[in-house]
Amino acid sequence: SSGVSRLPDGAVAVGGVDVRELAAQHGTPAYVLDEADFRMRARAYRTAFEAAFGAVGTGVDVYYAGKALLTVAVARWAREEGLRVDTASGGELAIALRAEVPGAEIGLHGNNKSDIEILRALDAGVGRIIVDSLVEIERVARLARERGVVAPVMVRVTTGVHAGGHEYIATAHEDQKFGLSVNAGSGATSPAMAALLAVLKHPELKLLGIHSHIGSQILDPDGFEAAARVVLRLRADLAERSGLLVDEVDLGGGYGIAYLPGEVALDPERVAKDIAQSVAGVCTELGTNLPRFSIEPGRAIVGPAGLTLYTVGTVKPVTVSDDGGADFTRTYVSIDGGMSDNIRPALYGAAYHAEVVGRSSAAEMVLARVVGKHCESGDIVVHEVRLPADVRAGDLLAVAATGAYGRSMASNYNMLPRPPVVAVSDGASRVLVRRETEDDLLGLDQG
Ligand code: LLP
Repeated sequence: SSGVSRLPDGAVAVGGVDVRELAAQHGTPAYVLDEADFRMRARAYRTAFEAAFGAVGTGVDVYYAGKALLTVAVARWAREEGLRVDTASGGELAIALRAEVPGAEIGLHGNNKSDIEILRALDAGVGRIIVDSLVEIERVARLARERGVVAPVMVRVTTGVHAGGHEYIATAHEDQKFGLSVNAGSGATSPAMAALLAVLKHPELKLLGIHSHIGSQILDPDGFEAAARVVLRLRADLAERSGLLVDEVDLGGGYGIAYLPGEVALDPERVAKDIAQSVAGVCTELGTNLPRFSIEPGRAIVGPAGLTLYTVGTVKPVTVSDDGGADFTRTYVSIDGGMSDNIRPALYGAAYHAEVVGRSSAAEMVLARVVGKHCESGDIVVHEVRLPADVRAGDLLAVAATGAYGRSMASNYNMLPRPPVVAVSDGASRVLVRRETEDDLLGLDQG
């Protein structure tokens, strides 16, 4: 995070708090969240998009994608920085509501929302329910009728643009569960168009607009522009067929961050400008006005704001043969967490950076692998990193940029209690989500 600094004695401070103090007070492993960094990124996205879309003559709403990490305090911070909150389940919705985010500023996603989740959303007066199938359109209409309300909906479409990593591929990536395809089979009405027309048939539904999310950890803005073009054309087609030019287009999340030293994150100002200018051009071509836009960044707001603090336990040199048959030593550094608090390396092959943060070391750097304490060899947190040769039991080790999809995807594998989320700000720390205890876990077991 931006709030990380080295103290004169070589230990690291985050948000003005010495990591040794954090470990002593809160224990390890712990997710540490730099509040100022979170707020700064939330503000950066909002102001960059407002400026860029304002310059082409329209508005934009920024929804914080709570799936990346949602706690009551985090939802409050997002709101205080002028963001709305995007939720993907009844549980996330409950957190946003407990944080007193007004219903009108909440969106509800999901490809298989339950009746109960939909009813809760209606009762909370959420600003939008993003519908994902024809069946769901009927379901939301029925529940809205039961409640005597009109449900505001967006239709999630798949544009054929799929992005993530460094490039995007504008081909058929539609063999997946999300969205309704814009690409019709041979002249037929596309699933996306059929869904939009279906929404219009229901007096209990108000069609706000069209939603598209193309992927995550995207570092090339071209994918957003390609998807926006497809959505804007669909919007114009719908106007031709129905007479309704919908007011809003959501371009989803996916803005990529830097995980490793030397990597470069997507720059919100540049990407906002690129997208705004591109959509303005497309609307001119199509002869339509510009809709209002919205985006849903999650990782880009909270990812860099978080780090995970661990304590080193065992250290083991292992002799390995490389491809050419030459031997080298890899130092296996075991920490007190692992794949239960960060599944991303095991699940996606995600790369992270780690450093010894409780002290300085003059020792040479050696090739190391940071591994967890779980009962499988794939329990790797950092595949490859250089650590000081004198790394030893008791050292504090931090893994950077774990704010997104760390705590939110954590498990209790091997009955490990999940770590706390600790916020740091202005030299002080406070617990946002407390550490689980063995009693919490045993309490679930009814014998
Ligand atoms: N909006 C929608 C509809 C989404 O499905 C997602 C993410 C987002 C917004 C936020 O995307 P972000 O800005 O955070 O990239 N667990 C994976 C990421 C899954 C993302 C799923 N959808 C990971 O750890 O990389």
